[in-house]
Amino acid sequence: MKKILVIHGPNLNLLGKREPDIYGRVTIDQINKRLKETARRHKAALEIFQSNHEGEIVDKIGKAKKTCAALLINPAAYTHTSVAIRDAILATDIPTVEVHLSNIYSREDFRHNSLIAPVAKGQIAGFGLDSYIYGIEAAIKLAKDAEGK
Ligand code: DQA
Repeated sequence: MKKILVIHGPNLNLLGKREPDIYGRVTIDQINKRLKETARRHKAALEIFQSNHEGEIVDKIGKAKKTCAALLINPAAYTHTSVAIRDAILATDIPTVEVHLSNIYSREDFRHNSLIAPVAKGQIAGFGLDSYIYGIEAAIKLAKDAEGK
């Protein structure tokens, strides 16, 4: 099976210290460790990428088609602003799962709109670290379905 691409958007490198009342104390390294364990159980390989830069994320998605069968993405603040990331997902036509640690619909109004959700297969939000675990399970299933396994 091709790899699953995992993308963490801006400021997620600061998890653990960043607004712990909202995002908890979990660090990005702990999330990645759990993602790798889950992937290993399903015999799936991951490529994990974090960037604070929109263009880097766009480039990464643009190059993913050849090597990756599905995308798990927490676009973070770009969820609410990035036409470019949305277009990159459309351009590569890669099956995508959008995840958020927090329930974006119970927060400020500007977080209620995701530009990514309409081009994703689905969205999981509000379960903290578990959003990623449910998300990677969904992404692995999409990848297996796409490869007819
Ligand atoms: C987030 C929610 C976004 O609104 C916010 O900008 C983030 C994190 C989440 O995981 O809950 O950076 O994507």
